[in-house]
Amino acid sequence: MRVAVFSTRPYDREFLTRANHAGRHDLVFHEARLDAGTAIAAQGAQAVCAFVNDRLDADVLKRLHGLGVRMVALRSAGFNHVDLPAAAALGLAVGRVPEYSPYAVAEHTAALILTLNRKIHRAVARVREGNFALEGLLGFDLHGRTVGIIGTGKIGACFARIMSGFGCTVLAHAPEVNPDCIALGVRYVALPDLLAASDIVSLHCPLTPATRHLIDAPALAGMKRGAMLINTSRGAMVDTRAAIGALKSGQLGSLGLDVYEEEADLFFRDLSDEVIRDDVFARLLTFPNVVVTGHQAFFTADALTGIAEVTLANLDHFEADGRPLHAVSVERVVSAAPPAG
Ligand code: NAI
Repeated sequence: MRVAVFSTRPYDREFLTRANHAGRHDLVFHEARLDAGTAIAAQGAQAVCAFVNDRLDADVLKRLHGLGVRMVALRSAGFNHVDLPAAAALGLAVGRVPEYSPYAVAEHTAALILTLNRKIHRAVARVREGNFALEGLLGFDLHGRTVGIIGTGKIGACFARIMSGFGCTVLAHAPEVNPDCIALGVRYVALPDLLAASDIVSLHCPLTPATRHLIDAPALAGMKRGAMLINTSRGAMVDTRAAIGALKSGQLGSLGLDVYEEEADLFFRDLSDEVIRDDVFARLLTFPNVVVTGHQAFFTADALTGIAEVTLANLDHFEADGRPLHAVSVERVVSAAPPAG
């Protein structure tokens, strides 16, 4: 099957080509992001393969369908960027990679916490300058602190295990209880209680209408003063402007982000020779107590291998019986049930 693969970097090509045993699919790699202007590159393809910042709104899906595309193979777990009702109406199948390496994201979350707490980003720069003073680098023991996890699916549960290993008390808030978390001693509480009690709050749920700006000004005001907030899920779950206000007032003690609301125009490319036009993002980078990584939490060799293999399996299944191995159905967006506990 011919597949137009968008938003590809050299590492995507390497891992997808390796997983495409015997060249069974004709993978046509495009560096460009998929949007209304670039969709034409899918001409002649039966499927498109897309990543997190590709645009898959009703207009783009309609264009793809008009070009003969019948399947969208997402190289991601998240599918918030796909207009699923529009895809269903057009009869376009959508497949995703429900899990590859929850460890990759959970471990990166821990890395952000350790970096912010022990000020590693500042320490490395100082030592390079021959400055070995410790003032300003004071951290706290993670042992005995309370970590609040919002969303305890595969990544949240893995992160709960890591933080339990540090000796933290782990609270969680999610629509359903994960027995693995209960076995670890995690206590499920209502969101306001989690926010009020946690020294570190970490987001691990999908972006849905219910979780957009889940962390807004009132939620930030309900957090422990000086607490740390980590977002490795999707940028729009945090109201960035409200977070900046909370950082300025000291209500938010530190912020670790791997994702950003407006990341589509920034991440996954080298902009070091350009001026950053996003003033909100630029402001974030001025805080000593903010660390931002460019959506790299998934970026391990193990995860890329998993993503490539499942993506190819989705294409195989679609070619064989018209349904991806891991299909995303329209019910998944409309059933964003309000969380309890
Ligand atoms: P998952 O589907 O296993 O778990 C998500 C959990 O969130 C589910 O248990 C669900 O019940 C819960 N949830 C849904 N709505 C909620 C709400 N309103 N409040 C609290 N919990 C809610 O997904 P997984 O694999 O753990 O991934 C979580 C998220 O991590 C993904 O949706 C994706 O956005 C993000 N992600 C980020 C990556 C990165 O590189 N930064 C890579 C992979 C995933």
